[in-house]
Amino acid sequence: MQVLVIGSGAREHAICDKILKSPLLKKLYLFGANDGFCFLGEVLDAKNWDELVQISLKKDINLVIIGPEKPLMDGVVDKFLDVGIKCIGLSKKWAQLEGSKVFAKAFLEKYGIKTAKYEFFSSMPKNLETFSYPLVIKADGLCAGKGVKILQNVDEAKNIISNYLDGQFGEASKTFILEEFLDGEELSLMCLFDGKTLLDFAPCRDFKKLYDDINAPNTGGMGAYCPVRLSDFQREKLSLLKKQLQEAFLQEGMDFSGIIYAGLIFSRNDFYVLEFNVRFGDPETQALLMSMENDLLDVFKNCIEQNLQDVELKYKEDSSACLVIAAKGYPENPTTGGAIKNIPEDVQVYYAGVKKIENALVASGGRVLSLCMTNKNPYDKLLQVASLLDFEDKYYRDDLRC
Ligand code: AMP
Ligand code: GLY
Repeated sequence: MQVLVIGSGAREHAICDKILKSPLLKKLYLFGANDGFCFLGEVLDAKNWDELVQISLKKDINLVIIGPEKPLMDGVVDKFLDVGIKCIGLSKKWAQLEGSKVFAKAFLEKYGIKTAKYEFFSSMPKNLETFSYPLVIKADGLCAGKGVKILQNVDEAKNIISNYLDGQFGEASKTFILEEFLDGEELSLMCLFDGKTLLDFAPCRDFKKLYDDINAPNTGGMGAYCPVRLSDFQREKLSLLKKQLQEAFLQEGMDFSGIIYAGLIFSRNDFYVLEFNVRFGDPETQALLMSMENDLLDVFKNCIEQNLQDVELKYKEDSSACLVIAAKGYPENPTTGGAIKNIPEDVQVYYAGVKKIENALVASGGRVLSLCMTNKNPYDKLLQVASLLDFEDKYYRDDLRC
């Protein structure tokens, strides 16, 4: 297979690393890869998606894997499918499951799938005193994981809603939902769908907060591990939810080959869907793919051939974990330019916000790299490696545990 991977982060680095191990791979092409992994394949250069589609045709690429949400929302899958190139990714229409909280909520309600109660607004609500607090605000559109905030009281709600309406996240936050706060443990349920079968990967847990405090800012994710050990009761509930999701996808006639990620919370003795993503999670993917023993490209091949019903996923016994090394100031204002030296060799490193300057890797973004490994207590080793990492501006959570 001639495969193109679109995306620049540690998630895409992990995907490339995994599919390079597949005997089915003839050649790997990359679009957007950062300097930490661009040497893994032939880098393609294009000014826009249409040009990338044309180049892909010329190169005889027969599978495109889209990592991040933005290209999916731009409709890149529709463009590739139009010329007969298969994709792992959702069409523009279904990408709205991630791109619009209102769209996602309407979908969940239509199929009676449990989710937090909510109301939709496009102006300052008049009755903020009547809500119970804490209360959750979610910008309708995409805000790079930063559009959700927990509001503790009416004054805070007024302030934050004013900022949203004033365009703190551009058009994305001018409409928003307010929803009930649910308390519980979160779970990332990532699945592949082929138009017929919904295949769930082992449940993962992502640490979204910048530090361990209910008021800490949300981030894209500071670490993740896989699998999450569930009770029999939880497993049963999860399996029911999976059936409900599959039923809904079939009834809608969704005909894509792609990834659906349901962000769940276990509250009041059941799983509630907090959000959908239409792609692999970052950093969950780094942990998941490390744990998974299957040939990922073979799994994707089965997905585009609508054979997911025949796939059996296998995982390592021990836990696989990922620790994100961010730059100080992340997520608001990360420090860039710091050199990363003496890269550890005893754990797996996947790069995100880095670039090469005169042969040295320097930080160029918020989440800089992911340290990953599989072990009985992987965070013991990962935290030790992180403390020794020669990168002055590093920030990471030192409290993570599987
Ligand atoms: P979302 O982008 O909707 O997944 O929200 C980001 C994070 O905000 C989640 O991972 C939760 O930690 C938190 N969150 C979102 N919705 C709720 C809710 N209804 N109750 C409690 N926490 C929430
Ligand atoms: N780790 C959460 C996400 O990828 O959105």
